[in-house]
Amino acid sequence: KISGPLSGKKLIVSAGPTYEAIDPVRFIGNHSSGKMGYAIAEEALKNGAEVILVSGPVHIKPPIGVQLIKVTSAVEMYDAVHSYIGDMDIAVMSAAVADYRPSAPADEKIKKKGDSIQFEMVPNPDILKSIGLNKKPNQFIVGFALETENELENAKSKLIKKNLDLIVLNSLKDKGAGFGGDTNQVKLIEPNNKVTSIQLKSKQEIAADIISKIIELID
Ligand code: PMT
Repeated sequence: KISGPLSGKKLIVSAGPTYEAIDPVRFIGNHSSGKMGYAIAEEALKNGAEVILVSGPVHIKPPIGVQLIKVTSAVEMYDAVHSYIGDMDIAVMSAAVADYRPSAPADEKIKKKGDSIQFEMVPNPDILKSIGLNKKPNQFIVGFALETENELENAKSKLIKKNLDLIVLNSLKDKGAGFGGDTNQVKLIEPNNKVTSIQLKSKQEIAADIISKIIELID
């Protein structure tokens, strides 16, 4: 076990995409690779935290020493996060969770017929909002925001609406930021509106900066 500024703290991270079933062979998903969240889990471990990593379907290896909980859908991720959150000091929700899911996934593979296909989508529960609004006095909750327009404004509004202690904004407009790659570029926004801009660097280095900011703010 590593000792560090987060020794004795329990931290939960969500990472990766969610897959929302259409039928037994098809789903609605997104391009999240899990790299950002897995890097955060590793940096938290390096700083002494006990880490639970709730991960959607990804193709990367978890850092040695985390407790890995594998999930597929947003509802499963919601249930997994909620079963541990009561015991956590810090939560970092970096997963790219689907906002909607097909209302009634088919039991059998949907056959090709006709020129178009329609299915109804219903909203998924918002994991981050739920843990933010039910936050315990000593819990520190970090969200992410992935935006394509009015970035700062939208991220600040998520920070307030979801009762967060910090939000990490990445914009798909920034080259080398966001899904898939090994780099990111983010802004860390605090409830007092302080914004720390972190230039393009590896997701591992960004993760280290996010963990340092959390350590600074919980002190
Ligand atoms: O996995 P990588 O390929 O490394 O890419 C990293 C990333 C781009 C996925 C990551 O850096 C990131 O931005 N994650 C959040 C993506 C996202 O879904 O953003 P959002 O603005 O839609 O959601 C806002 C926040 O609410 C996020 O913390 C999200 O985890 C959370 N959320 C959203 C919907 C929902 N139903 N439940 C949630 O908890």
